[in-house]
Amino acid sequence: MKHLLKLLDWSGEDINEVLNLADQLKYEQKHGIAKKYLEGKTLGMIFEKASTRTRVSFEVGMFQLGGSALFLSSNNTQIGRGEPVEDTARVLSRYLDGIMIRTFEQSEVESLAQYGSIPIINGLTDFCHPCQVLADLMTIREIKGRLDGLKMSFIGDGNNMMNSLIVGALKSGMSISVACPENYEPDAKVVEFAKEYGDKFKMFRTPKEAVVDADVVITDVWASMGQEEEAQIRAKAFEGYQVNDELMSLAKEDAVVLHCLPAHRGEEITAEVFEAHADEIFEEAENRLHAQKAVMVYLMR
Ligand code: CP
Ligand code: NVA
Repeated sequence: MKHLLKLLDWSGEDINEVLNLADQLKYEQKHGIAKKYLEGKTLGMIFEKASTRTRVSFEVGMFQLGGSALFLSSNNTQIGRGEPVEDTARVLSRYLDGIMIRTFEQSEVESLAQYGSIPIINGLTDFCHPCQVLADLMTIREIKGRLDGLKMSFIGDGNNMMNSLIVGALKSGMSISVACPENYEPDAKVVEFAKEYGDKFKMFRTPKEAVVDADVVITDVWASMGQEEEAQIRAKAFEGYQVNDELMSLAKEDAVVLHCLPAHRGEEITAEVFEAHADEIFEEAENRLHAQKAVMVYLMR
């Protein structure tokens, strides 16, 4: 059984196949020829963290595919009261055709897959955000016409987004340079993986070094969900890591800027850069819908 637990588990071919399917589903939806690929199927959506895009795009996506989606908050299910994931997995597998989960620990997602018997989709953990990165790759390919040979730069925290972008970019033939302060590096497993790609992965301390000649510049919040109490300490650590006009002048002139959202203008990105690239950023948000529909069809059909 295939899952989407993290992009490290997927091959470049898996990614490419889902991106092609996402393009097809987007085309079909826009031209009124959408098919009900998942008619009669049900997706359970477990949320232990807040969400706007992930929740709405999965629910709408499932509806458009002819199925239905069930919102399961940890606040009012037994999950929030400590029922073991091993039991939740085995129970929900008997009702549902697939589960999307947004939670803290990556191990919880892996356990769902281990004990359940239906496809599991990671809708964000502290470790990674694979659905977002599939939408990001889809958006880059749409705008640039290819992924192979392009340079991506990620400026900021070595968080779930940086981890997934490193893996997704390298597996898609892109090179990636990241800039992060000391103690905010990407996960060691991801760095280990990236080393196999030699010069295609570079890690810097200064954003300027990372962004030179970039085709795509990406950033994300400095304090992720669950890190709210450290926000001030983090803001200090990330001083100088803002994506602003001065930094963008070092990237290629036609560089794309992406942000998974929500964005904090004046922190990781200026309002000027954000608004100059708003069309790209909101296309990226729309593509969550198409990319996730592709993931669901790929795993659940
Ligand atoms: N980018 C993203 O995952 O957004 P939400 O937190 O709103 O789902
Ligand atoms: N790094 C952010 C991404 C939000 C979509 C977080 O985990 O909060």
